[in-house]
Amino acid sequence: MDIRFEKREHLQEKPDQKNLGFGKHFTDYMFVMDWDKEQGWHDAAIVPYGGIPMDPATMVLHYAQETFEGMKAYRTAEGKIQLFRPEMNARRMIKSNERLCMPGVPEEMFVEAVKALVKAQEDWVPSEPGTSLYIRPFMFATGDVIGVKPATEYQFRILVTPVGPYYKGGVKPVKLQVPEFDRAAPHGTGNIKAGLNYAMSLHPSVIAHSKGYADNLFLDPQTRTYVEETGGANVLFVKKDGTLVVPQSFTDSILPSITRRSLVDVAEKMLGMTVEQRPVRFDEIDQFVECGMCGTAAVISPVGQIDNGDKSVVYGMEHVGPVMKKLRETLTGIQSGAIEDQFGWVHKIDVE
Ligand code: PLP
Ligand code: COI
Repeated sequence: MDIRFEKREHLQEKPDQKNLGFGKHFTDYMFVMDWDKEQGWHDAAIVPYGGIPMDPATMVLHYAQETFEGMKAYRTAEGKIQLFRPEMNARRMIKSNERLCMPGVPEEMFVEAVKALVKAQEDWVPSEPGTSLYIRPFMFATGDVIGVKPATEYQFRILVTPVGPYYKGGVKPVKLQVPEFDRAAPHGTGNIKAGLNYAMSLHPSVIAHSKGYADNLFLDPQTRTYVEETGGANVLFVKKDGTLVVPQSFTDSILPSITRRSLVDVAEKMLGMTVEQRPVRFDEIDQFVECGMCGTAAVISPVGQIDNGDKSVVYGMEHVGPVMKKLRETLTGIQSGAIEDQFGWVHKIDVE
């Protein structure tokens, strides 16, 4: 793929790595590429970060044809940069796009674009412990038609942002609540990464935050009996005997987290743990001894307490359970290059 590079005149000052927050700082450049029926994908470019001019009839503004991905570039102790399983994000975005009648970005093109932008912004990849460069590929309908039908023009963009922890407090246990709302419909779009799912989760999320909860734990939208996931991460539990329990959705409304699928391999193949992947009833979670949220942004965030109305299940707000700690250390070790990657997950970025 030919990627045009459009230089900007002035580069920005870099933010303080100790106070990055999440998604607050945007870098000097972004990636952009267009699609239409005649030309397919064309005009790939890395351009100065800036606004997107839009016609008021642009289809994404009306019918929400938008999908996105989330991944990270990590700085190793030797100062090198590496990505974690970017092909998995490429494949998931193809699936998300199929569901919303949008064209897919071919896997090799997606990975090449991500690598090119990260390389162009290599000096923005932070090195403080717990920091990384969050990568947000996204795609949306750009055609200007007001009829309800799939658009005929799209744009694929990637922006990058240096980040610290997603949940305030870093790796301290947080509280979740079971909300009165669902984030997805049974057999709807909960299993794809589309902006529309996050729009659904905002109202319950504002309520949860106002009550002091870090996020909502959504139940299955059909029977409200089984545990699904939180607004921005999958969940994991640990049984007394150390078995890792991974909730599955019988209504196909959980996002297939790449972190979660990687942790299952880490647990089984590196740590010799037993893993159960199955629907998990909400009324059995008081039998477990640890709980955590997992995702690119969340990494593995320990959950200390889950409230449902006036009932609470408490795992402990003061300490991180040993299994979640071990899983976190092993996965982040692989991602940051401190632990050898025996799975072929890491892609090194070729930097000076
Ligand atoms: N579930 C939801 C709703 C998410 O937004 C995310 C974040 O991407 C995840 C789970 C975790 O997925 P991944 O591990 O691929 O980042
Ligand atoms: C991610 O983990 O990449 C996500 O997209 C989650 C989002 C809530 C920031």
